[in-house]
Amino acid sequence: MTSILDVQNIFSGYGKIEVLHGISIHVEQNEIVCIIGPNGSGKSTLLKTIFGLIKPSQGSILLSGKEIAQAEPEEKVRMGLSYIPQGKNIFPSLSVRENLEMGGTPLGHSKAIEKAIRNLFQRYSILDNRKEMKAGSLSGGEKQLLALAMGIMVEPKLMLLDEPSLGLAPKMIEEIYGRINSINHEKVTFVIVEQNARKALRLAHRAYVLDLGLNRLEDTGEGLLNNEEVKRLYLGG
Ligand SMILES: Nc1ncnc2c1ncn2[C@@H]1O[C@H](COP(=O)(O)OP(=O)(O)OP(=O)(O)O)[C@@H](O)[C@H]1O
Ligand SMILES: [Mg+2]
Repeated sequence: MTSILDVQNIFSGYGKIEVLHGISIHVEQNEIVCIIGPNGSGKSTLLKTIFGLIKPSQGSILLSGKEIAQAEPEEKVRMGLSYIPQGKNIFPSLSVRENLEMGGTPLGHSKAIEKAIRNLFQRYSILDNRKEMKAGSLSGGEKQLLALAMGIMVEPKLMLLDEPSLGLAPKMIEEIYGRINSINHEKVTFVIVEQNARKALRLAHRAYVLDLGLNRLEDTGEGLLNNEEVKRLYLGG
């Protein structure tokens, strides 16, 4: 069986600064794969490279068996990839509805966008109730929920999420992770980068630890939760 995503020996960085020195990960259909590691270990750089915002200098990235290492993000979106970057991922001066329209832009037709928004409002009543509000006036958790909703407008096969729980209150982290879990049950595969590792490892089927731009460990989520080294270094003892 072909992996949905197969990253093989990727070297990547910013100009002359190499950040990833030969990273490999694979993700199977319907998995939730989590990537953890200390600040600056290259987690965000890996997601940016997979999405095509940065082109790797070496290595291969296969999406459903097709080589995409040098492809542009727009092409990858058409192939079913969705990426939610770390931090501010919404348009604060636009309304919630307008943000969703932006998320649906790759769908092309306004009818298709309208239909996707209607479906979404049925499942995300928090957003429906706030649809005319400026996105900038939402709470941190609601903003992250909106970012997630924008990401699923195009009905992706594989979502790349960078720190979805960063800065959120515990209750909102529950909400976001619950949503990720239900989207996963609708046959969407996830790669989730998290610094706050415990929550993500509980949800993940498998996980990788990166360190200094290299693969350090790989195991099931549960395996890493119980790993002494991971406990000491990444889970606060
Ligand atoms: N735009 C950039 N230009 C140059 N160097 C960068 C850029 N973005 C990140 N870096 C460097 O690349 C390295 C890896 O950064 P990256 O953001 O991938 O790490 P990270 O694991 O996501 O860290 P964090 O947990 O803090 O989000 C760091 O040394 C960082 O300083
Ligand atoms: Mg990061």
